[in-house]
Amino acid sequence: MAAFPFAISAVAVILCSVLLPPSSCSPICAARTQDHVRTAFHFQPAKNWQNDPNGPVYFNGMYHLFYQYNPHGALWDVGNLSWGHTVSGDLVNWADLGNALDPTAPFDANGCASGSVTVLPDGNPVILYSGIDAARRQVQNIAIPKNPRDPLLREWTKPSYNPVVPVPADVSPDNFRDPTTAWLGRDGLWRFAVSAVAGGVGSTLVYRSADFLRWERRAAPLHASRDAVMAECPDLFPVASPGVPEGLDASAAAARHVLKVSMPDTLQDYYAVGRYDEETDTFTPDGEEDAREFGDYRRWRRIDHGHLYASKTFFDARRSRRVLWAWVNESDSETDDVARGWSGLQSFPRALWLDAGGRQLVQWPVEEIETLRRKHKAMVGTEVEAGGLREVEGVESSQADVDVAFEVTSLERAEGLDPSRLMDPDALCAEKGASVRGGVGPFGLLVMASGDDLREHTAVFFRVFRLLHEYTVLMCTDLTRSSTKTGVYKPIHGGFVNVDIEKDKSISLRTLIDRSIVESFGAGGRTCMTARVYPDHVARCSSHMYVFNNGSDAVKVPKLEAWELATASVNAIAAEEGDGLAASGDMCKSTAYY
Ligand SMILES: *[C@@H]1O[C@H](CO)[C@@H](O)[C@H](O)[C@H]1NC(C)=O
Ligand SMILES: *[C@@H]1O[C@H](CO)[C@@H](O)[C@H](O)[C@H]1NC(C)=O
Ligand SMILES: *[C@@H]1O[C@H](CO)[C@@H](O)[C@H](O)[C@H]1NC(C)=O
Repeated sequence: MAAFPFAISAVAVILCSVLLPPSSCSPICAARTQDHVRTAFHFQPAKNWQNDPNGPVYFNGMYHLFYQYNPHGALWDVGNLSWGHTVSGDLVNWADLGNALDPTAPFDANGCASGSVTVLPDGNPVILYSGIDAARRQVQNIAIPKNPRDPLLREWTKPSYNPVVPVPADVSPDNFRDPTTAWLGRDGLWRFAVSAVAGGVGSTLVYRSADFLRWERRAAPLHASRDAVMAECPDLFPVASPGVPEGLDASAAAARHVLKVSMPDTLQDYYAVGRYDEETDTFTPDGEEDAREFGDYRRWRRIDHGHLYASKTFFDARRSRRVLWAWVNESDSETDDVARGWSGLQSFPRALWLDAGGRQLVQWPVEEIETLRRKHKAMVGTEVEAGGLREVEGVESSQADVDVAFEVTSLERAEGLDPSRLMDPDALCAEKGASVRGGVGPFGLLVMASGDDLREHTAVFFRVFRLLHEYTVLMCTDLTRSSTKTGVYKPIHGGFVNVDIEKDKSISLRTLIDRSIVESFGAGGRTCMTARVYPDHVARCSSHMYVFNNGSDAVKVPKLEAWELATASVNAIAAEEGDGLAASGDMCKSTAYY
């Protein structure tokens, strides 16, 4: 079949729908009586359950995202999930391509679980995913495009020789999943990492292959944790030199790699920075202390200190950066999810790189978000007195992007802190919330605040403490008053921020707000915190935003910028070949290829 010309026009149509700015004429508060918590610029399928991001890849000028998807309803249910599939030209606007994988074969009859995409040297992409087979064993399978010339990669074939990796004898059959993107060693062999409970220990195993079909397990795991039930969704990727905001391809040689795992015991993502040795396929964390604590993942750094899980990165060759996706689940009730007909978000994509100090990652929303910026407000050179509250007027804070810097005039009144409290920032934030007056801080933002005496509001803030010989900065997101609704999980998230406040004197906060999610980036993305909120007042489209200071001294706000964000085009329907939409593809031809 001469599919190629049709395919080109289909690409044009889809790029058209995902590249043109969404209806700039509709105000952000267009009638949304039914579902005011549905997000405006985060990826979610039109309906139903989604969880882990799968196989993100930049291929042929398009960004592809696959995701764990239950086409039958708003809950995970029995877990017999499919892979949903969506594409974008800009990581902001998305077209729906239907399911890429469904649980139809003996080797995935009970579910197509998480996995990845690798682009082979011949230019063809291949999916590596975990199937839950007819006997309910987790096995590793591959899938290849049915028509490699279809630029949208809509249909995938699962070869009958699957699984390519059955469950090894020492691995528990219900804990062997989530293969990473594969990387190519200088010896010409492919490798991927996969989660397993091996000999009763939560481990990340490595497999090698010369042909992507016959895989051999390496004797030593990349990581094994004495404390973990299971380490899910591993990710191993090389990073550029400290402070260089760029990414590297999975197969690039690099002095440093990052190993990330997701821990079901705590529902958090952790990572370590270290050296990956491709001779032995082992990973050694940097620093003596990190190496000593390697068995205990709770000592690792966190991708996010809030509500975010199962993250996965990919290398974006278009802009030479590494981009992270993650699942952000609901925190209201299953009854609410069923009533709304959907559950689960993908975090807004973040670029990530190694911090100048070389010990931790920094994460930052991809710059394409700026295409959604509309109404702009700035405050310059403001000072907020002790106990003060300043409204950022004229910006509807239910769909916004805010970037603010706080400058502290003196650290003299910083509260003392016992070092033992460093272990549990959540508890410290819970004890010292926004309304507990402090020395230096709390200061920060109140977002999604209702007009009626702040009955509903979400506080994102910092508080500076004095340790024996230094200062430390705590960042918190307090959800206790985020919604008047009952039956909603309203925790207080906390994390320390790796900054030298004595030297810098100032600290920045960037917050993305989207109807039921608040993602915050402290100190240029050194500490990240995602929260789910369900404010009732958002339905009335009357969300306010404030800067507050509940410390004992004034804080300066040298600059605050806030933008209302437009609604992205998410789930545009991919045009069928030859239909009316395809004809109108002409107007977008110039943007069809870059
Ligand atoms: C998968 O789940 C759906 C919805 O619960 C159900 O209709 C379907 O029969 C299930 N398939 C299998 C193979 O269990
Ligand atoms: C969502 O995650 C939170 C923890 O982050 C957990 O308490 C809750 O059970 C999860 N909800 C669902 C519906 O999975
Ligand atoms: C600041 O503290 C006072 C006194 O505890 C409290 O009434 C007020 O709500 C606090 N401000 C914020 C923004 O929490």
